[in-house]
Order: sequence, then C-alpha cells, then structure tokens
Amino acid sequence: MTGKGIGFGKVILFNEHFVVYNIPAIASAIGTKTLASIKPAEKLILVDDRKETPGYKKEKLDQQKESLKRIMDAAGIENREIKIALTGDLVASSGVGASAASCVAIARALSDYFDLGFPDEKINELAYEGEKGYHGTPSGIDNTAATYGGLVWFKKGKPNIIERLNIQSPVEIVIANTGIVADTSRVVAGVRERKNKNPEKYNKIFNEAEKLAYDARKALERFDLKTVGALMNENHRLLQEIGVSCKELDFLVDLARDNGAYGAKLTGGGAGGNMVALTPGKELQERIASAMEKEEFKVLRTTIGGII
Ligand code: MEV
Repeated sequence: MTGKGIGFGKVILFNEHFVVYNIPAIASAIGTKTLASIKPAEKLILVDDRKETPGYKKEKLDQQKESLKRIMDAAGIENREIKIALTGDLVASSGVGASAASCVAIARALSDYFDLGFPDEKINELAYEGEKGYHGTPSGIDNTAATYGGLVWFKKGKPNIIERLNIQSPVEIVIANTGIVADTSRVVAGVRERKNKNPEKYNKIFNEAEKLAYDARKALERFDLKTVGALMNENHRLLQEIGVSCKELDFLVDLARDNGAYGAKLTGGGAGGNMVALTPGKELQERIASAMEKEEFKVLRTTIGGII
C-alpha cells in the first residue's frame, strides 16, 4: 500500500510581504515539484531526500516536524504508523515555496494513502495549516500556488480571493539562488516591527504596492512583458525600502538587468533565498542564466504561466 502526492514550487512575481497585509499579489507555479510517498511503518518516520541548499533541511527540521503534526491533526489522522518520503526536482531552498510544496505533497499523499478523497480546496487548507509550522502567520499565497498551479492572483481575506490569470503563452524566467537560507518568519516579523515604528512611511509604500499589483495584472493579461518587467523592478525597489533585500539579492538583480532582463526582483521572503528575472525567449534566458552561473550561483531556467 502506497500513497502519493505532488506539490508545485512557486515564484512570487509581485508583492511578497505586502500580501501578508491583504494587498493583492501575483504568483506562478514553476515546473519543478516536490513528491511525497507514504508506506506503512512501525512508527512515524519522515525521510527527506529532496536536494537542498546546504543547511536548509537542518535549519528547518523542527519547523518541519511541527508542520507535519499540524497537517495530520487538521486532517484528523490518528494512525501515525507510516513512513513519509520526500523527493522531487524542486531544490529545498528559501524563496521557491519549498515548504508549501512539501505541505501540499504530504497532504495529497495522506489523502491518497488513507483514501480520504480530499478535494483541492481541502488540500490547500491542510497545507496552510502545515505552513503555519514554518512561518507562524503565512498569507496563504505559497500553498495556494503549490496546490493549484498556474499563474494566480491572490488576496488574503475572509475568504481569500484566488483567481487564475491566463496569459498568451508561458514566459521564460531565471531563478537564481543566493545560497543563503533565510528564516521567513523572522523577516516577516522585522517588517511588522519597522512598519509599527514608522507607519507613515510604510503606509505610503504599501499604497504604492497595491496600485502596482493592479497595473501588473493588467500588463500580464495584455501580455505587455516590457511593462511587466518594469513593474518587477519597481516592486524590488519597494521591497528594498521595507528592508527585506540584501546585497547578494541586489547583486543578482543588477546582473540580470545588466544582461538585458526585462525586470528582476527578489522572490519570496528575501534576506537571502532567490531572485527572479523575466527573460522572454530561450536566448535571453540562457544569456542571463549563464552570466549567473559564471559567478557560481545556482540557477533554474523555467517558465511562468504554463499550464501545470
Ligand atoms: C514567502 O514566500 C512570502 C511572504 O509574503 C510570506 C507570506 O506570504 O506568508 C514573505
């Protein structure tokens, strides 16, 4: 008897952090994924065979245990005599939704193994519970992209607004890894602290981020990639202003732009983790990816807006 499940990696194109405060954000699933498989065992065992940024799995181990417990509690699963194995081609690193992808994969595998027939909505809900184990107050955007795939418009609320965005065709991107493992909950807490200390400055930035989300949605829908790229650059500036970038991310963003990317920004929690560059066409994608590889960064060549 085996249960199997899959969760997609994701990239946030617009408004990470702002999304925590109910400002709309745009994310896309990427081609890489995490797989979970479950078999009977004498006790609960979790084997994590995902590739990783060195240090990631060790750093997140306690959070991972807490996350698994939360998923199983929320799913009402009492029989815990199982072995869960995580694999897949999504490298476990900060910024690509690794925790959310694993939560979704586990929730799906549990549903399969125990024959619970959970629909996507329930999987997303369980993965959200699991995400709380990693970063206390997640907005829910990561587990949503990891569950449904595709390009999504997400606005946190009661209920969350989740809309699929359709674009003319998939667009090439480059994701580059700083190699720094970041603690998202700490970065999110830092924003809250600074925002409380300086509400006037932060409210102004947050208003700009909100307007930017609507402009970005329109630009994506009319497939105006130059504008999408320019808005990504603008979004990176706002993220710098709220203090979540770092010199390694800024270096990668500049390198991408200097080599002709339409736009580039940090993606995910920041303070390390990953950068995303919009690089329509295989040729541009290759030019930017190899410029980063020459500097010894690990990169992922993939697309946004693909039908997953
Ligand atoms: C992390 O991938 C995205 C953040 O906006 C946190 C969240 O939305 O929960 C930084």
